[in-house]
Amino acid sequence: MVSLSFKNKQYSAICMALAMSVFLPSCHASEQSAAPGSKVDSTIQLAAADQAGVVDVAAAPILDFRGTISGDVLDLNDGKGPDTEAVQEFLRTGKNPYNDNPEVIKNGYTIFSTACSGCHGHLAEGKLGPALADDYWTYPGNILDKGLFETIYGGGQGMMGPQRGLISKDEILQVMSWLRSIYEGDPKKAKWKN
Ligand code: HEC
Repeated sequence: MVSLSFKNKQYSAICMALAMSVFLPSCHASEQSAAPGSKVDSTIQLAAADQAGVVDVAAAPILDFRGTISGDVLDLNDGKGPDTEAVQEFLRTGKNPYNDNPEVIKNGYTIFSTACSGCHGHLAEGKLGPALADDYWTYPGNILDKGLFETIYGGGQGMMGPQRGLISKDEILQVMSWLRSIYEGDPKKAKWKN
């Protein structure tokens, strides 16, 4: 205990010495992550996640995905090869693991630009197809990731054909993460975050 507080003092002294430099925030951050109890907290979190079945996602059954228009069960074989880990997780949780991942979001925009923007506009502001960044949805189920996937994968009316087989399920998840990132509707209606 004594040596620990001595170390902390020493550490604080180093932080102080660097106070005038840009290193202060990072110094502070590592001090926080080393705070007593943080290890215990993360262990409790992990145990809770395990209890909730979050950790063993692979063992969970695949959810029932249905066409937004037809209501029929969707054929999840898109002929694009084995599912990525993200897709496997999504099919079991209905939550897009790519949301809030800056790298994937960037790539999602690249895919959107080639596969969707011709009809939905460069920034999904709407063109031939509707805007996709606001909180108005023709199909209210799109407010959740599962519903949004069902609409994109299985298609909507008319020109909104199924994207199944055109782009992979993983690419659809990437596009979806970009769409969620540009959302400018009422934050209370951002249901996929719950
Ligand atoms: C050929 C034109 C065209 C392309 C390409 C296209 N869409 Fe659409 N999309 C439409 C039209 C038209 C609608 C409206 C159809 C409807 O309401 O059923 C629509 C509807 C949608 C909806 C439903 C919106 C709502 O308000 O519920 C989503 C989501 C969507 N598109 C996403 C995409 C994504 C993502 C891509 C690219 C992977 C894409 N679309 C490619 C024309 C297109």
